[in-house]
Amino acid sequence: MTNILQQKMSGRFVVLDGPDGCGKSTQSAMLAQYLQAAGVQTVSFRDPGTTAIGEKIREILLNPAHDQMDLRTEVLLYMAARAQLWTECIAPALQQGKCVILDRWLSSTCAYQGYAGGFGIDKVINLACCSLERLWPDMTVILDADLTTSTKRLKNIPDRMEQKGEDYHQKVRQGFLEFATINKHHIVVINALAPIDEVHIHIKDIINNADFRGTV
Ligand code: TMP
Repeated sequence: MTNILQQKMSGRFVVLDGPDGCGKSTQSAMLAQYLQAAGVQTVSFRDPGTTAIGEKIREILLNPAHDQMDLRTEVLLYMAARAQLWTECIAPALQQGKCVILDRWLSSTCAYQGYAGGFGIDKVINLACCSLERLWPDMTVILDADLTTSTKRLKNIPDRMEQKGEDYHQKVRQGFLEFATINKHHIVVINALAPIDEVHIHIKDIINNADFRGTV
């Protein structure tokens, strides 16, 4: 017997995104665990990464030695890793009726390279149209956190993106908020400053109350 959540979440594509240190990786793992316990077949991936090719691209992107990387190169590498992730992991899982939880997606390229980097959100989306089979998930949850709090949650040795400085990361946060106002594809912004368990309850509520009619 399938329950309501199993029916509702089968073949669904959910993204958790937000500035560095917002807690999305912890929350993605907690959400996947919750869904699995409720009998929903769930898989989790990270973008960029997961595939062998994607993990190599991730290494190139995050290596602090690559501080000369051109913004266009950066955008294209993030998009390339994502194209591979779609083909190898996301599309097959969705076809098998699994629920896919993704740590970051195109929303990140819009906020980081598009808004904070100055490439332009529109241009990122145009490029995505030519690069990806599917642009938007069934649900995107943006975990919003101020820079002081999110910086405290970061690891000791910053990677190339984390090294970009305070102004850049302030803009990343604004970029996510801007993206959420212009994107009409089931996107919710939540306050990620609350204790971990409260944020998890909030995300569970969003999923349980979501109406996916009209998504892909
Ligand atoms: P992660 O550590 O959260 O997995 O993300 C890796 C870094 O890459 C993080 O600083 C955010 C950044 N990033 C972008 O700049 N653009 C993108 O499109 C994605 C997916 C991540």
